[in-house]
Amino acid sequence: MKPRIAVFASGNGSNFEVLAGSCADGTIDADLVLCVCDKPGAFVETRAERFDIPVLSFRARDFESKRDFERMIADRLDEEKVDLVCLAGYMRIIGEELLERYGGRIINIHPALLPSFPGAHAIKDAFEYGVKVYGVTIHYVNDEVDGGKIIAQTPVEYTGSDIDELETMIHAAEHKLYPATVSSLLSNLNK
Ligand code: GRF
Repeated sequence: MKPRIAVFASGNGSNFEVLAGSCADGTIDADLVLCVCDKPGAFVETRAERFDIPVLSFRARDFESKRDFERMIADRLDEEKVDLVCLAGYMRIIGEELLERYGGRIINIHPALLPSFPGAHAIKDAFEYGVKVYGVTIHYVNDEVDGGKIIAQTPVEYTGSDIDELETMIHAAEHKLYPATVSSLLSNLNK
């Protein structure tokens, strides 16, 4: 059986789209079996429907605690026999329940060269700082925000002054690095 991937996202879902497309065309030798979304109606859900990928859509406020909604998610991951969770713009900190049950199998993509510029506004923070080499990091998820072991990084050189142009370049770098990294992680799993 091919490895099974779930992607967690909260918004646009361009990285979801690239991962789904790469699984569909065989660039990643895996099945993307579930999209988990904590913002019902987010565009990532439309993208998932187009790929015929089931969506687990929920609102955190409908649960009593983070542990409760993470238990619901982890139960579904168990049912779907998920091997790898890829966070792609999932705007929540992963909590104890998911780390206890899926720790070591959750990775995240971050639009900066960690450990510089962690957090939710990495591109803006790096731009305002005035760095000349930006980049993208893929790392394991642990209990520190953007703090887990680094798996892969790619630099993006930019000396211009247009943050929209910079964002486009960083997203393009993400869309290459994420499928390539997932693919090599999974092939190492099988060795
Ligand atoms: C990406 O920049 C990713 O690095 C960050 O959130 C953004 C998600 O973009 N974690 P998209 O929803 O995949 O288009």
